[in-house]
Amino acid sequence: MKYSTIIFSLFIFVLFSCEENKSGKTKNQLANRTELTHSFSNTSEIATKHLHLDLDIDFESRIIYGVARHKMINSGTDTAIFDIKNLEIQKITIGAVGKEVETNYFIGKYDELLGAPLFVKINNNTTKINIYYRTTPNSEAIDWLAPHLTAGKIHPFMYTQGEAILTRSWIPIQDLPSNRITYSANVKVPKDLMALMSASNPKVKSEDGNYFFEMKQPVPCYLIALAVGDIQYSELGKNCGVYSEPELSKECASEFIDLPKMIKAAEKIYGKYQWGQYDLMVLPYSFPFGGMENPKLTFVSPTLITGDRSLVSVIAHELAHSWSGNLVTNATWEDFWLNEGFTVYFENRIMEEIYGKEAADILAYIEFQELENELKSIGDSDFPEDTHLKLNLKGRDPDLGMTSIAYVKGAFFLKTLEEKVGRKKFDRFLKSYFKRYAFKTVTTEDFSRFLQQKLLQPNNISFNTKEWLYRGGLPNNCIVLDPPRFKKVQKMAIDYSEGKNIFSKKLVLSNLLTQEWIVFIRGLSKNIDVSKLERLDAEFGFKSCGNSEIMAEWYLLGVRNGYTGIRPELKKFLIKVGRRKYLEPIYTALSEKSADLEWAKEVFEEAKKNYHFVSIKTIEGILYVK
Ligand code: BES
Ligand code: ZN
Repeated sequence: MKYSTIIFSLFIFVLFSCEENKSGKTKNQLANRTELTHSFSNTSEIATKHLHLDLDIDFESRIIYGVARHKMINSGTDTAIFDIKNLEIQKITIGAVGKEVETNYFIGKYDELLGAPLFVKINNNTTKINIYYRTTPNSEAIDWLAPHLTAGKIHPFMYTQGEAILTRSWIPIQDLPSNRITYSANVKVPKDLMALMSASNPKVKSEDGNYFFEMKQPVPCYLIALAVGDIQYSELGKNCGVYSEPELSKECASEFIDLPKMIKAAEKIYGKYQWGQYDLMVLPYSFPFGGMENPKLTFVSPTLITGDRSLVSVIAHELAHSWSGNLVTNATWEDFWLNEGFTVYFENRIMEEIYGKEAADILAYIEFQELENELKSIGDSDFPEDTHLKLNLKGRDPDLGMTSIAYVKGAFFLKTLEEKVGRKKFDRFLKSYFKRYAFKTVTTEDFSRFLQQKLLQPNNISFNTKEWLYRGGLPNNCIVLDPPRFKKVQKMAIDYSEGKNIFSKKLVLSNLLTQEWIVFIRGLSKNIDVSKLERLDAEFGFKSCGNSEIMAEWYLLGVRNGYTGIRPELKKFLIKVGRRKYLEPIYTALSEKSADLEWAKEVFEEAKKNYHFVSIKTIEGILYVK
């Protein structure tokens, strides 16, 4: 270690051991700040405004060699703090390219959840900090896929997942949602591959594997994303299209054909789309989510491709995030419902606009069933307060907020408000909310105040806002949906569970929507004979029907009832699909019986090479921590 580095390290050590540092913050206050923001960074003293990335993507070694060039606003501090997790820092300089001067840095104590603070010694007028780094095999955001895990099976693939706090594992950054930055990037990839980011994107491959990207609107850094692979573009409308491996291009273009209509419907409700282009990127099966709203380029799971467009509400959801989430962003992860609850509400409005009220209610009802289950299980857990919309995530993984509470309770809060004030007024209010907070971040309290001042007070309406936001369970005034179509399938499910013959109604059954099948399967008795499940499989072939939503629902019921005949198909599914929403309940059910648990562990050990870190971590928690 250089002498000056030792001095700087000592300085930082002293800074953190004394009761009060220069900025007047005590050690405790700093800890509180980190607990609230899930970040070590000192953005109130110095904050990134623009980030330029120079990235070299090396598939051979599975390493990204990078330089993160931060252009910052410095209010006069001599230390900048960044978040890093499992990154190797090579050197840090200050100053513009060509005039860079190396500076000292110090990496603080590593935390399993948050990673470590990176303290950089600067001058009180420094605004340019350049961090030279490389990623490691433990850079959790990145999924590196061998060719056999892609559709084409010839080229490798890689992508990143930043939300909630994984960006720090592939970029040294101030990793918190309340700081917005613009960014640009020079990315070098192997010659025959295409690179895409949540930014302006190429439509064809470059000759030499070099790509330049620009995101001119300020975004929170969890939305920075990169994908590299053998990728082809299909245009779907004048400002929208879908990227995928060439093998899937045709299917993708057909599945997502309604994308231009969705954009139009969304704009009609909440005003102009602010990001220019809107494209989809269909990733390999390991992608842990149905979709991720990376701006200009939503990432989606190939499980959405069913051939019958029955799962496109996920696209409506990710598109809706272009307003709720990307334009108006949750200030902390405790306000996560502002991102997701608004988006589920808006998703349903888009679906209603295009496919009608009945279709929209069917989707909302399915989600409501999930909310009811989750309210029960969280209510009985160690953290019953997690049924509040405003969460308490201090010292906890923000990932824990990803439950139906934020999504569906949040959406039903807004649906209930809409019903109370009327759609016209509610839409006007929401439009003004998106306008007022565009490119800003919002806390639950900001929203609550805005709601009171702009909607409730002027219209003389009293509403139990506080109960919805800060108390558990579901308030009594929550609106109830009961789409008539479901009555029939629910009755059929009960009849069948009780031993009645339903197969004479074949005509009805052969015409069911995906969502009706789901409600049918959920409507079957929780304890049902294996022979009855076998009979349904023989009749309808659920276990290998190809629709991931139906299969996941079916496997779950099967596992819970000891239907081991599904194991070959279930194993195939678990090895192929890395989407956590499916994996989590199935592995949980498997972990409940010891014979199943052994089998599940074997399958998981084989399957995990095809899972993203996000899914691996969740499933390990289910199979091994118990
Ligand atoms: N933004 C989320 C995904 C997310 C949330 C990733 C929190 C990491 C942390 C995305 O918009 C989402 O909600 N995806 C859902 C789809 C949706 C239709 C409910 C999913 O993947 O299941
Ligand atoms: Zn979402």
